Amino acid sequence: MTEIPVKKKLLSFEEILEDRISSADLTMDPPENEEARQYYFIKKARLLADQLQAELGRPLTFHINTFGCQMNARDSEKLAGILRAAGYQEIESEDADFVLFNTCTVRDNADQRVFGRLGRISHYKKLNPMMKIGICGCMMQEASNVEKINRSYPFVDLIFGTHNLFRFPEYLCNTLESDRRYVDVWDKTESIVEDLPNDRKYPYKAGVNIMYGCNKFCTYCIVPYVRGRERSRQKEEILDECRRLVRDGVKEIMLLGQNVNSYGRDLKDGSNFADLLEAAAEIEGLRRLRFMTPYPSDFSEDVIQVIKRHPNISRHLHMPLQSGSTAVLKKMNRRYTKEEFLTLAEHIRAEIPDAALTTDIIVGFPYETPADVDDTIDVIRRVGFENAFTFIYSIRRGTPAAKWEQVPEEEKKVQFARVLSVVQETARQQAAKLQGRVMEGLIEEINAKDPGKVTARLSNNMLVHVPGDASMIGRFYQIRLDECCGFYYFGEALEEC
Ligand code: 5AD
Ligand code: SF4
Repeated sequence: MTEIPVKKKLLSFEEILEDRISSADLTMDPPENEEARQYYFIKKARLLADQLQAELGRPLTFHINTFGCQMNARDSEKLAGILRAAGYQEIESEDADFVLFNTCTVRDNADQRVFGRLGRISHYKKLNPMMKIGICGCMMQEASNVEKINRSYPFVDLIFGTHNLFRFPEYLCNTLESDRRYVDVWDKTESIVEDLPNDRKYPYKAGVNIMYGCNKFCTYCIVPYVRGRERSRQKEEILDECRRLVRDGVKEIMLLGQNVNSYGRDLKDGSNFADLLEAAAEIEGLRRLRFMTPYPSDFSEDVIQVIKRHPNISRHLHMPLQSGSTAVLKKMNRRYTKEEFLTLAEHIRAEIPDAALTTDIIVGFPYETPADVDDTIDVIRRVGFENAFTFIYSIRRGTPAAKWEQVPEEEKKVQFARVLSVVQETARQQAAKLQGRVMEGLIEEINAKDPGKVTARLSNNMLVHVPGDASMIGRFYQIRLDECCGFYYFGEALEEC
């Protein structure tokens, strides 16, 4: 007899949350299983928060200050989901009952911003003794930062790192039950805890983690030290999350990972990024699919062909070049040469001609000469990047390049200015080519400068400001690109599509 496969019911995010919370039994010890354990603590946090609200006679509030990349933004949605599930309401101001800093440490200025803001919120705590302040994220994976907080920021109640973010419900309870500072930073984790609460920032677009960590060890980069080794989620877990999001009305999904085209290698079951991308693109109702960030030399032909076959995969590829000099790339431990990068970019331009190529560039890496920067400029011009994030090299303690001979600060600035002006030049030239075209755009928000306008994002990631109102947000329109203003356009929304 052939067995008929049972199609599993796709529970909504809310159903999962309430189902797990109601099955937690607070009369027992916390469960061993990590997911069940954290739902146990969410239930407990709800009780503690209820008591506190009754004492205060008002709702409890939270605020999360997020620094850094999309991975951090996604983590903050999880943290917000946990606080909301515990009964807290989000507010815009840092004058909240629970304030969390989700930190970044990729460059030194990110660290400085965190310490600056942290110093400024201490006065809120003097006015609200119930206030709790937590810090998590990449900066906390560095012992020197934890020491600095222990020494100079006595008002911080909770410190945890990137590997144990899923334990936040447990830490929240500890913090609510005690006035003692609670510190827990792990140096690694094998586990990926699925299905914790989730509080999406936008109703129409969402990020989905496909993998965590990085194995590349570029010599300037702190990420492998603070985010650990690559760990991929199971393909079906990822696809279920995407399907749920689409059912909830999400139009655009971004698959997130430090190094997305390494997806699946650690699973050792044949999983790979091209298959995942294709399966996600084929989810019914998913209008647009993006991904961030690929590693140039791991960009397989399969991935290029999947993008080519699926018009709902965004025509925007972010390919971090870092440097155009083969000698510098070698010192950076990037696994491609100038010529290989150029060949790849040329191939992508030929295969997917409407794709915008953007990149990251570091200027002032140890031993970099003006001639090396000439090579970087040469690549920028030849590829004609639609946009680029340019960074001045920043020493990250513990990385190999931190110990090498540094380029003087003044010299870094001079070279940075040269690179920036060429980036601006190619970005303008590429943007100008689209003048007069009509393209599909997803309306994302009211224009901050002109409330009579809304901002649309095109598949190639370009922004177009068009007359409109809030009712258009989250919908796709045919957009005419009328007036190019460097990196963005003014235009008009013609009709919904
Ligand atoms: N200094 C400057 N820029 C850096 N990046 C990563 N580490 C450093 C550093 N130490 C940049 C890279 C990377 C982007 C996310 O940040 O360009 O692609
Ligand atoms: Fe850092 Fe390199 Fe990994 Fe990117 S690929 S996260 S730059 S180590």
